[in-house]
Amino acid sequence: MAKITWNPGTMLSPLPPALISSGNMNKPNVMTAAWTGIICSEPVITYVSIRKSRYSHELISKNKEFVINVPTWKIASSVDTVGVKSGRDLDKFALTGLTAEKCSKINAPQVKECPVSIECKVLEIREFGTHDMFLAEVVAVNVDEEFIDNKGGLDLEKAGLLAYAHGFYYTLGRKIGKFGFSVEKKKTLSVKTDKFSKEKTIEKFQKAKQTPQKDKNGVEVVVKKTGFKKIKPVEQKQEKKSNKTLANKSDKFAKKKGKKTNFENTNNNFRKKTSIKKK
Ligand SMILES: Cc1cc2nc3c(=O)[nH]c(=O)nc-3n(C[C@H](O)[C@H](O)[C@H](O)COP(=O)(O)O)c2cc1C
Repeated sequence: MAKITWNPGTMLSPLPPALISSGNMNKPNVMTAAWTGIICSEPVITYVSIRKSRYSHELISKNKEFVINVPTWKIASSVDTVGVKSGRDLDKFALTGLTAEKCSKINAPQVKECPVSIECKVLEIREFGTHDMFLAEVVAVNVDEEFIDNKGGLDLEKAGLLAYAHGFYYTLGRKIGKFGFSVEKKKTLSVKTDKFSKEKTIEKFQKAKQTPQKDKNGVEVVVKKTGFKKIKPVEQKQEKKSNKTLANKSDKFAKKKGKKTNFENTNNNFRKKTSIKKK
């Protein structure tokens, strides 16, 4: 199908419906902003675009500080509320039950319920049409320790981050690969097949192939059958052993009675057969 060209619009998505906290601990304020993002990695430069009419615009212009808080689906309702009510009229922390918490390097508060809070200092305010862009340097990042894994890395999959796309809120789907996964050599998961329970292991192999197998980083691995492993079933081994012990016992008994042992009997039979063949 061909693409239809529309007029210019804000169609970039998904975006984080970030909570922008400003003011101070005595009079904290929070608003929702989807027009936010990263501009540079080193130094870390970010932005948020806010309309002049917002109370947050006034506070951030005055204090030159704000925090970008990354929300989860659990607080989606509060994210929406602080995006439709103004802090000029009421205390939005009291209204929603969100908690204002002290930051490490700036006076603006952070939102406790968000797993990541990015402390920013304004570098420049650039006026565009409807929105003014607050260009800022990231001075600290506060991460909820619940999402720091045992290697010190950040694992936000279980946090359930919230996304915003074309007027709707979404939860993030499942993790499908890490940075660079498309060019990485695929790892293989070997399913060894056992000669004596072939059907069972083929079933196991097919099952492994159907359900996506992941390594500890959540990256999918290729399921590969690696041939037959020769394992003798345990029952057969035991049966053979017990026949041997029975034979030994009967040979000892035969010797006692002066009779021919099993070994002598089979040997004689063998001699008889070979002598018949020779004729
Ligand atoms: C999902 C969502 C995204 C929003 N994004 C922005 C934005 O990027 N910039 C902006 O100025 N307002 C945005 N708003 C509107 C403000 O959050 C809203 O006007 C809020 O009441 C302002 O609060 P304040 O007056 O206390 O600063 C958004 C609202 C919602 C619900």
